[in-house]
Amino acid sequence: MSLWSLLSTPIWGPGSVLLILVLLLRLGVKIWHKIHLWDLQGCSAELTGKTAVVTGANGGIGKAVSQELACRGARVILACRSREHGQRALNEIQAASRSNRLLLGEVDLSSMASVRSFVRWLLRESPEIHLLVNNAAVCGFPTTLTPEGLDLTFATNYIGPFLLTNLLQGALQRAGSARVVNVSSFRQAHGYIDEDHLIGAGRPLTFNQNYDCSKLLLASFTRSLAQRLQGTGVTVNSVEPGVVYTGIMKHFSWSYRFLFWLLSFFFKDSKQGAIPVLYLCLAKELDGISGKYFSSSCVITLPPKAARDPHVAQSLWNTTARLTNLDKVA
Ligand SMILES: NC(=O)c1ccc[n+]([C@@H]2O[C@H](COP(=O)([O-])OP(=O)(O)OC[C@H]3O[C@@H](n4cnc5c(N)ncnc54)[C@H](OP(=O)(O)O)[C@@H]3O)[C@@H](O)[C@H]2O)c1
Ligand SMILES: *[C@@H]1O[C@H](CO)[C@@H](O)[C@H](O)[C@H]1NC(C)=O
Ligand SMILES: *[C@@H]1O[C@H](CO)[C@@H](O)[C@H](O)[C@H]1NC(C)=O
Repeated sequence: MSLWSLLSTPIWGPGSVLLILVLLLRLGVKIWHKIHLWDLQGCSAELTGKTAVVTGANGGIGKAVSQELACRGARVILACRSREHGQRALNEIQAASRSNRLLLGEVDLSSMASVRSFVRWLLRESPEIHLLVNNAAVCGFPTTLTPEGLDLTFATNYIGPFLLTNLLQGALQRAGSARVVNVSSFRQAHGYIDEDHLIGAGRPLTFNQNYDCSKLLLASFTRSLAQRLQGTGVTVNSVEPGVVYTGIMKHFSWSYRFLFWLLSFFFKDSKQGAIPVLYLCLAKELDGISGKYFSSSCVITLPPKAARDPHVAQSLWNTTARLTNLDKVA
């Protein structure tokens, strides 16, 4: 059969050409990720004797991060809101990492009372904490008030981690040298800062903009907290994981989830999404680096302008400290 007759057989319809193009594109994306992701295997960091806390550790990026930390010898506290889902993840991580140093903690980050009671338990379990990964987040909720009068999305993504990080400051400082890692999102570029959003009021938000804004607030704190912790041996940085196929879309309507699933062919999986986060946790060259925002290719990047305004940051800190009764003991 000549080449020409092979090429003119009916299997070369538009459908198969499209399929091949998609597969080639997928291969290209895979290679691109390989080149642009940090070389995790090449990092020799060892965590025996260290304690790490990862929020939202029962799925997606948080679970992949926890597993890697456990493999490297850390005692990992999986901070999850569902005991059942948390226990299932713990069993799986235990099997994969052969670590017997995993501990399940229950916390609902959208509730300040729950964060405080989690911290009381945590400090008894572990007075020193070397690594805190603020990973848990929700998106896809309309404005919804929690029983404590906060907006659910802002409470989970920003106020909860704010309170948790502040209440753990002592434990982080006792560790001698510690890191706080916030999982941020490229979506923050579409957000803006309005403190009234925290209590479900303020300027109206377009579809899913509460997620964007809550992530922007997280980044705004970079300066404040890093400044407050200067010289204590505790560093804080935030990182953008990239577009990752996880359960993050579970609260959206089925049509959005279907689209996400279709496109997921080109997204990172959780293991790949965890790599930029692990870079901030592990990389030796980040010792002493604080208050920075890293892109998913692990490069220091300027966060949006609103997150860099020191007056806005100060005012936001004051408002959040007041809302969380920060001056009251845990
Ligand atoms: N996926 C992406 O493309 C992408 C892009 C940029 C940034 N990120 C960020 O990456 C981080 C991890 O997200 P993911 O993609 O891995 O999503 P995920 O699979 O949905 O994981 C989110 C985790 O947060 C937990 N969580 C939600 N609300 C909580 C609460 N009130 N208290 C305690 N835990 C709570 C969830 O627990 P349940 O299982 O109980 O709900 C889950 O374990 C998030 O900060 C997200 O904003 C993701
Ligand atoms: C991480 O989040 C906490 C809680 O919002 C905040 O206090 C801290 O400044 C954030 N750090 C960075 C680097 O964004
Ligand atoms: C924040 O509070 C501090 C101390 O209470 C105060 O000195 C400062 O002026 C406040 N800043 C803003 C912008 O509200």
